[in-house]
Amino acid sequence: MRRLVAETRLHPADLVLPLFVKEGLTEPAPLTSMPGQVQHTEDSLVEAVRAARDAGLGGIMLFGIPVAKDANGSQGDAPNGILQRALRASRAVLDEGLAPGAPTPVLMADTCLDEFTDHGHCGVLTSTGAVDNDATLTRYASMAVAQAKAGADVISPSGMMDGQVAMIRDALDDAGFVDTSILAYSAKYASAYFGPFREAVDSELKGDRKTYQMDFANSREGLREADLDLAEGADMVMVKPAGSYLDVLRAVADRSDVPVAAYQVSGEYAMIEAAGANGWIDRDRAVMESVTSIKRAGADVILTYWALEIAEWIK
Ligand code: PBG
Repeated sequence: MRRLVAETRLHPADLVLPLFVKEGLTEPAPLTSMPGQVQHTEDSLVEAVRAARDAGLGGIMLFGIPVAKDANGSQGDAPNGILQRALRASRAVLDEGLAPGAPTPVLMADTCLDEFTDHGHCGVLTSTGAVDNDATLTRYASMAVAQAKAGADVISPSGMMDGQVAMIRDALDDAGFVDTSILAYSAKYASAYFGPFREAVDSELKGDRKTYQMDFANSREGLREADLDLAEGADMVMVKPAGSYLDVLRAVADRSDVPVAAYQVSGEYAMIEAAGANGWIDRDRAVMESVTSIKRAGADVILTYWALEIAEWIK
């Protein structure tokens, strides 16, 4: 009876699996603060993409970690940079031998500089060390085109620079990538829950992102950010993190006329894994409760590190 009358149901196609790939690795490197997740080698990434495809996931989101980081994040748009190589390899796996119409995960790329800069900020800096919004937009435009060329279906600007969606849309169109979509990280909060992610991408960040990510005290501001991205041409908008922002998610879902995504971030994952490992909560039930709640609150698309496992359970 509960199954018959359930208002919310997860489907593998709702889920997007974030994946990390690190240049120069010879073995996958487990992430201490994200038990069960790894930094992939280029080879193990291909296996993970194949697993995501076979599980019928809606998408995969790739993050690249270069060997060399610098002030401008120059590996971010290098044609042979790690993320572009990973996108090309993933594209090949997703397209390999598929029957026409087979459900293929959408290939998404993180479009941000923090994985590539030696200061760890999401943009380039001015001479006084502040993040330079407009100079960063030029870098994002170039990254977006490099990612589209490498086979990304979806460009995902996560750096919270003002004007990033419009700038990227123009750059993609000018380069002929008129069908490449933009998933805008619209309402992204300066969050303690990103902690484990910093290990995942070997982040060099000291300090915080409060000059560009939002204050967790504010919801109206999150709606304004989503409205701006919609006006600039976002094809999907995102709220991030998810679990502590279900009110913002619901409000964005109620006013958005494009699909709404939510990112269940590294810290949300780590908390449930840690409590589960200690026997303090029922891990599997907490996983399903947390992800189903994100959908109930209005997410059409959910990024979660448990995507593969949940898809198995659903099957
Ligand atoms: C920025 C980015 C971050 C995450 C996704 N994209 C980190 C940040 O903004 O500090 C966090 C994801 C997670 O915590 O799981 N490139």
